[in-house]
Parts: sequence; structure tokens; C-alpha cells
Amino acid sequence: MIRAEKISKVKEHVRAWKKEGKTIGLVPTMGYLHEGHASLIKRAREENDIVIVSDFVNPIQFGPSEDLATYPRDFEADCKLCESIGCDLIFHPEPEEMYEDNFCSYVGVNTLSENLCGKSRPIHFNGVCTVVTKLFMITEATKAYFGQKDAQQLAIVCRMVRDLNYNIEIVGCPIIREDDGLAKSSRNTYLNADEREAALILHKALTKGEELVRAGEKDAKKVKDEITKIIETEPMARIDYVEIVDWNQLQPIDRIDCDILCAIAVYIGKVRLIDNFIIK
Ligand code: PAF
Repeated sequence: MIRAEKISKVKEHVRAWKKEGKTIGLVPTMGYLHEGHASLIKRAREENDIVIVSDFVNPIQFGPSEDLATYPRDFEADCKLCESIGCDLIFHPEPEEMYEDNFCSYVGVNTLSENLCGKSRPIHFNGVCTVVTKLFMITEATKAYFGQKDAQQLAIVCRMVRDLNYNIEIVGCPIIREDDGLAKSSRNTYLNADEREAALILHKALTKGEELVRAGEKDAKKVKDEITKIIETEPMARIDYVEIVDWNQLQPIDRIDCDILCAIAVYIGKVRLIDNFIIK
């Protein structure tokens, strides 16, 4: 597996692969890889000649009071995992390589970034769209793989690709969970044992919400109230949001009569966790 820190090195390899007519699958990550990432890399491995994983904690998607400095990192472990799945190249740039002095070009997606995580993380999605655009340009990937756990991110990237005619296919992949239901996330490592137990409330509440919708409940408020009530039974939990939006525009709805995303963000202690379900 090739390790590349420089954009020029990635481009050199990409040029050679493209000359041979190879397809390239890209899995953009911020490292500290877990089984959720592994599932994306495996899918990319199955569907492409070449697999590139980017491993970059992107500073411009973190707000000033967020966890950029403490975000977990273990590049050697990431390399091992990627190698074991058969990844061809891991791209691990320094921030200065991605953002040169006087960097001032950003990509943003409006409406879809307004609600859910966009409310409490106002610069986040512009940072994501900008870095993802750069990764698409650098790797010239045929397909890129994103997890449904970050459902708003997935919807925004798909819309950006559609609206701006990017020459790439976005593949959305299912949420990977621990055996007890907690959605896998690099941020789960912040949780102590009590918080880890308390965090199960997210999946419990969403499971009930999903059951209600699948049983025919059309009143979004009733579903949100039930989810909220369950989360509030956990003393360590503090709700950031519980929201039901239409999957197309990510705008809140009153009646459930379209494809929906039900998404929650909940603080367990100081750790902010997200989870969701989509019903089409
Ligand atoms: O989902 C993530 O890990 C990040 O937001 C991404 C897509 C790698 C961009 O930095």
C-alpha cells in the first residue's frame, strides 16, 4: 500500500492508473478507523480497480469550540486496517498541504445545511464540501463512499455532486453498530464506562420512533415527542435536537407522507453523538 502525504504524489499515481483505464474508489475519512470505515473500504474494494483512503482531520470543518485538537488519531493502526482490506493508497496530508497560505476558496450547499447539525455547527458543512471537493479533484475518483450515520453530510454531498455536475458517483452505505446498538463512531472513544452505557439511549429511542412510523404514525410531532421522552429518561443525556425532515430537502415536516430522515444529536456528558433512521 502506498502512503502519500503530498498531493503531487497522489496525482502522479492517479495519472498512471487512469492511463491504464482503472476505476478509482475513494473513501474519505478523518482517520481513527473503525468497523464503520472498514465496511466502506470493503465496498470500495469490491467495486473498483483501485481504492484510495484519505486520512485527514480537516481543520476547516471544526468550529472554534469543537474537538479539533483532541480528535483521536492513530495513523499506524489506520494503515494496518487499510492494508488488511487491500487498499492501494492512503493519503495522509498535513493541513498546510491541503490549505496553502491565503486559502480562500470554499464550496457550500445552502438549504440542506441549514437544519439539524447545521444549526449548531454553522461552518461545518462548508468545510466538509470544500475538503471533499479537493479530494475528488486530487484522486479523480470514479466513486466515493460515505456512511449513512452522517446522513446530513451524505445528503449534502449527493446534492453538491448533482447541482455542480461533479463527475463522480456517491455511494451511501448503512450505519454499522456495536452489538448493543450504539452506532460506531471515532468519538465513542471519548465516553467513559458510565457514559458508554448511557449512550445506548440514542438507539433505544430511535428504535421506538422507527417502530411508530413503520406502524403508520403520520404525525411527526408525536414521533419526536416519544423519542424525546425516552432520551429524557437518561440523566446523563442532553438533547441538542430531535428532528424529522423530508429526505429530499432536509426541511422539518409536520406530516410523514414522504421519504423521511429522523435524526438526533444528543450530548452524553460532554460528548455529542448523532444517530438516525431513514424511511423511504
Ligand atoms: O465524515 C467524515 O469523516 C468527514 O466529514 C469527511 C467526509 C472525511 C470530510 O472531512
